Amino acid sequence: MHEQLINPTIQKFKAEFNAEPEHIFLSPGRINIIGEHVDYSDGFVLPAAIDKYICFAVRKLSQTNLCTIVAKDLEEEYTFDVTGEVKPVKQMWMNYILGVFSQLQKPESFFCGMEIVFSSTIPMGAGLSSSAALECGFAYILNELFDLRISKKDIAVIGQNAEHSFAGVQCGIMDQFASVFGKENKVIMLDCNSLEHLYFDADLQGYSLLLFDSCVKHSHLTSGYNERRKDVEQGKKALWKNFPEIEKFRDFTVPMLDTTKEEMGSISYKRCLYLLKEIQRVELAAKALSEGNIQYLGALLTETHAGLSTEFEVSCNELDFLVEKTVQQKGVLGARIMGGGFGGCSINLIQEDRAEEVIRTISEKYLKEFNIQMKVYHVKISDGIKEYTNEYIV
Ligand code: GLA
Repeated sequence: MHEQLINPTIQKFKAEFNAEPEHIFLSPGRINIIGEHVDYSDGFVLPAAIDKYICFAVRKLSQTNLCTIVAKDLEEEYTFDVTGEVKPVKQMWMNYILGVFSQLQKPESFFCGMEIVFSSTIPMGAGLSSSAALECGFAYILNELFDLRISKKDIAVIGQNAEHSFAGVQCGIMDQFASVFGKENKVIMLDCNSLEHLYFDADLQGYSLLLFDSCVKHSHLTSGYNERRKDVEQGKKALWKNFPEIEKFRDFTVPMLDTTKEEMGSISYKRCLYLLKEIQRVELAAKALSEGNIQYLGALLTETHAGLSTEFEVSCNELDFLVEKTVQQKGVLGARIMGGGFGGCSINLIQEDRAEEVIRTISEKYLKEFNIQMKVYHVKISDGIKEYTNEYIV
């Protein structure tokens, strides 16, 4: 991590600002074992932070009101006045930052200038939540530097709001929550309704979670993400009209859904059916994980893929191909598209000593079928956002 991420970020900071950074922060991406698209529908999710990070090198400047942010990997920079009004801009990466800042800028808050360089090992558009890492990383930095006393939960919510207001994506809370609350070797079971959560040991008993990147890039602003949310909202409206006594979406049953099918239309019906089944699968998966039933956990992942592909319709040919071929290999317990969909990675539960062979076979098949070289990420479940305080020598 030093060679690849921290040192180059510090070097860039020195070159850019002719000074040493005062703080280094690491903000991680996430995986999600199961529970897709249910975070905006009162569901449970099972995400974890991973050892792929955005690294921020930061210095506070009390003698100016200007904040300069350098996106090292994109070779772009942006400066704004911390006392002025902030609005969305055309650089999408900056909107994640400004969206956070706009929520924290209050008459009573005192901000001064800053110099920030950031760089990342989280691939963009691969479904590993680089945007949540950027939003929450920046909120965390402001909290630390200006002693704002914001809770960890609020940091996650502020990140999510930034995505809604400045980036235009109506996402749920899962990605931001995982980036903030991640713990080494632990999976988070999050109730997206109450934000209550518990941690499970990520003990996979000789199996590992591998990510296969289809290299099909997506952006949830232009993918069907917001549309899926609309389909679901339409379904919920019809359900609550008929069953006003139900408190949470997850308490609806399939028979209730069936009686409302005509009213909501077949698209919303399919979406809601997937959601109700997925919410149940997460509970089963959490139980399987806690009982060490990894075989069953794998089967649930593959079921989720089928639902995401045919009912929620957020997969694509490349990911359907990857999953179909992967689950046929020896030593594979399950596979599915991960994250919001429309591209990105599959998550695969594979026997450790068979992994290399599976990777070789699937890479070859994928190359032959789509002429795309698939990428593979071996990820470790890691801590959430933190200041990096180990000594570093550049
Ligand atoms: C994206 C969103 C999340 C979640 C997932 C799908 O990653 O940001 O809030 O909805 O898609 O589970």
